[in-house]
Amino acid sequence: MSGWAFHNPVSVRFGWGALESLPQALAGRDAVVVTYPEAAATGLEARLRALLGPRLREVVADVEPNPEVSWFRARYGAFWQRHGGCVLVAVGGGSAIDTAKLLQIATSEGSFEDVFAALAAGRQPAVARAFALVAVPTTAGTGSEVTPWATLWDRSSAAPKKFSLHVRETWPEAAIVDPSLALSAPAAVTRNSALDALSHALESVWNVNANPVSDTLAVEAARTVVACLPGLLAAPADRALRTEMSRASLLAGLAFSNTRTALAHSISYEMTLRHGLPHGLACSFPLPLVWRLAHGADTARDEVLGRVFGPEAARPWERLAAFLAEVGVSTAFADYGVGPDEARGMIVHALDGARGRNFVNPAPALDEALAGQG
Ligand SMILES: [Fe+2]
Repeated sequence: MSGWAFHNPVSVRFGWGALESLPQALAGRDAVVVTYPEAAATGLEARLRALLGPRLREVVADVEPNPEVSWFRARYGAFWQRHGGCVLVAVGGGSAIDTAKLLQIATSEGSFEDVFAALAAGRQPAVARAFALVAVPTTAGTGSEVTPWATLWDRSSAAPKKFSLHVRETWPEAAIVDPSLALSAPAAVTRNSALDALSHALESVWNVNANPVSDTLAVEAARTVVACLPGLLAAPADRALRTEMSRASLLAGLAFSNTRTALAHSISYEMTLRHGLPHGLACSFPLPLVWRLAHGADTARDEVLGRVFGPEAARPWERLAAFLAEVGVSTAFADYGVGPDEARGMIVHALDGARGRNFVNPAPALDEALAGQG
């Protein structure tokens, strides 16, 4: 078949102050909130308690960045013993939403080890029970509110690894995207989140799974991030720019919800595991290099990518590198402590990863592109 399909089951509510619609999204059901520790200091946790009233059963507020296997080993069993028949409300960045997705599902055996064993064996767990999930992002970047994917990290083993959970049940039932919630984000989080959204957008275009809907969403998202991020970093309280960035993140999330990511994300996982780079930085600094590797592999993909900076940009990856430099991001592996041999090996490894195999050019000319890294 030469046609295409697009599917996303998440009900989206978007707008400044949209958090107030959370009780309507719950429709009388009880809720457990999963959020990040700082939500108490910013007043967000108190706001959620007031909004949910007696419907709120518990606030799980010790979510950590990049969810770790050990965190779930310590909490999952007791969590499932305490709760059932309610909705998980994930409020936070990608880590809070991913954590909720991992808490959300259980096999018939009901232990976290059962879930982990399936993921470690390269399978998805057989879900017997699940909570419904309402996702409320407080950063503009992850897109996790409209995708079924959750990333789980295991740094405790001899060979640190990442795993990806994605089953039908981990599609959120609803996403509430309220740009005002990102106002309290530190500047680095605002920037890195926006760059994650930009990465999702571009990765869904240089992708073997792209389709006309994902392309349209992705180009609009990428153009919006490029147009708005420098201004937002200079004026972080600007309501219009915050709203535009949340809209771009949502559109990019919808785009890659159908394509998955590609080579830049595959590279990013190694950069995070080996060098500790935050996700949004790790998946965005290689974007100009990856764009260069994509160029020429598929003229239809080149045409769509050309819409981001317009037809006058003959080498759009150079425009992208200039944009990244403007927001303080170096595109050179060397600036992250990665030498030429390690960078080359990392890209070869990434091309063979699950996300790397979505990349539109399976055998790119690495040496020429890396020579231009400087
Ligand atoms: Fe990402």
